[in-house]
Amino acid sequence: MPASDALQFFFAWAAAPLRVASVTPSSTKLAELMTREIGADTGPVLELGPGTGPFTRALLSRGVMENDLTLIESGVDFARMLKQRFPAARVLQMDATDLRDKQIFSEPIVGATVSGLPFLSIPPRKTLAILEGVFKVMRPGAAVYQFTYGPRCPIDQGLLDRLDLRATRIGHTFRNLPPATVYRLERINSISRYDWRFG
Ligand SMILES: C[S@@+](CC[C@H](N)C(=O)[O-])C[C@H]1O[C@@H](n2cnc3c(N)ncnc32)[C@H](O)[C@@H]1O
Repeated sequence: MPASDALQFFFAWAAAPLRVASVTPSSTKLAELMTREIGADTGPVLELGPGTGPFTRALLSRGVMENDLTLIESGVDFARMLKQRFPAARVLQMDATDLRDKQIFSEPIVGATVSGLPFLSIPPRKTLAILEGVFKVMRPGAAVYQFTYGPRCPIDQGLLDRLDLRATRIGHTFRNLPPATVYRLERINSISRYDWRFG
């Protein structure tokens, strides 16, 4: 990670601690964990709250095409940096809460979503809007990957039930500041072996 990323991240956190929710970008180890079920066959990938882009870089090294990436980032400076760093990706400077009402894909083609959003500091009403917006654009069987610094899934069980979602803990790493756990969120009633290329 470039030293300037750490600095930019720290200043962004100082200006908006609840929105940025961490003093430093995620580690390479956490990025590996977040993206380990994603690869060249996943197709379009949505990333929420990329910040300086540690998960974006990990997605590219897994073989995801840069022009298959849609990055949703509300921070103006982060969004500007992402556009320079990943020129072939689609960078949308917007609040992920607005995904439910905006049509950013014409059909549900997203194969996976990687989220760095700080759900522990996002109110349930907004969390609901974000997850509805995300699952609206994902293919059957596609999952959201979410990390947390907390002891359990950052999405409340009542909300998961309401959206018919299941959360599975897929890993933990101490090699991040602070240590983090990764969850996979997926629809309970979904076709598990659906191949999006053949409908
Ligand atoms: C904990 S940081 C994670 C950054 C990066 N993914 C990482 O792991 O280093 C949270 C990021 O989500 C962005 N963010 C927070 N709330 C958001 C929202 N409602 N919509 C879009 N981006 C948001 C912040 O600006 C920040 O970049």
